[in-house]
Amino acid sequence: MQQAKASTSRRSFLQKGLVVGGAGTIGAGLLAGGLSLPAFAEEESGGLTQGDVAILRFLAAVEIIESDLWQQYNELGGIQDSEVPGGSGSKPYIAKLQVLDGDMSQYIHDNTEDEFSHMAFLNAYLASKGAVPVNLDKFRNLPSSKATGAQQIGRLTNLMQLTVDTSWWTRYRSRTQNPDLGGTFAQAIPGLSKGQFPAIPRSDADLAPDAHIQAIASTAGFHFGYIEQGGTSLYPTLAQGVTNLEVLRILLSIGPTETAHFQTWHDKAGNAPALTDPTNGLVFPDLNAAPFGGQNFQTNLIMPEPTVFLSRKFPPVSIIRPTQIAGSGGAVATIKSFTADGLFIGQPPEFFTVLNELAVQADAARRGL
Ligand SMILES: [Fe+2]
Repeated sequence: MQQAKASTSRRSFLQKGLVVGGAGTIGAGLLAGGLSLPAFAEEESGGLTQGDVAILRFLAAVEIIESDLWQQYNELGGIQDSEVPGGSGSKPYIAKLQVLDGDMSQYIHDNTEDEFSHMAFLNAYLASKGAVPVNLDKFRNLPSSKATGAQQIGRLTNLMQLTVDTSWWTRYRSRTQNPDLGGTFAQAIPGLSKGQFPAIPRSDADLAPDAHIQAIASTAGFHFGYIEQGGTSLYPTLAQGVTNLEVLRILLSIGPTETAHFQTWHDKAGNAPALTDPTNGLVFPDLNAAPFGGQNFQTNLIMPEPTVFLSRKFPPVSIIRPTQIAGSGGAVATIKSFTADGLFIGQPPEFFTVLNELAVQADAARRGL
């Protein structure tokens, strides 16, 4: 009887249309965008506000995206096992990843497993509260790498034409700049921020010459840091809009694992050897030598350097940055950055509509509303 009653209640809710709170028209855009369910499947939301649900749904979407890209890295460069199945590895690619660290394959495996667990947990939690989980399966249509070791399945993300923003490297070394206070940051690998480069071998033709497959592995090494610094800012940024204490606990418990990932990748990227890819001219400079080098580039400065926070009247402090609500680490900015990264090359307009709607709603969430 309880089930039937709940079901009737849900139908009635859907017929009445969407009940919206302070966070605005949650779900309306998703309906237009082709995801046929509103944020709440039932009137009961388990003490969550519309804003809480919007934040959790956006994070679920991001974790789905992360899971998809990490899965591709794991198939070719990680360890394929019962925890992270799929693919059979590319020995030449793994050999070059191991130049960055002998344990790279294990770290790739573990990062992949973590993202899958984040995705599954967030969607299960949403469902437990009567909210609708996020499903992006209809957009899994991008091509797989043709290199030996990759599964041939549809993907959500592209890793074969990336434009990687490596300014996180200098952002975490600066003692005087913070993006939340208007700071701007130099690229560690300027070449990666212009043009499009593969971070996984596109086919077995990419496995030689030596400097080419090393450049691909090193691109991955910097891309790992780029992706995980994003999560490192996103969780504390969105946490400030959360109302429900348990939802806050979720964000404060998942977010720092993104930072653990970031810290690992930050360390490993610094081991990428200086080289020029003979096939496309991409340069990985020696970050410890002029015109690089010094405080802003030195490869063993991997912990967040103290910098300005909130106001320049305070002393510099070691912090995650950015974290301003709806700022450059927020939901909309994250999707904009992932798009500029090339992750979504080949996705249809509807995909961007869906993601932007989720992002706008998450950024609009305010504590207590
Ligand atoms: Fe994650």
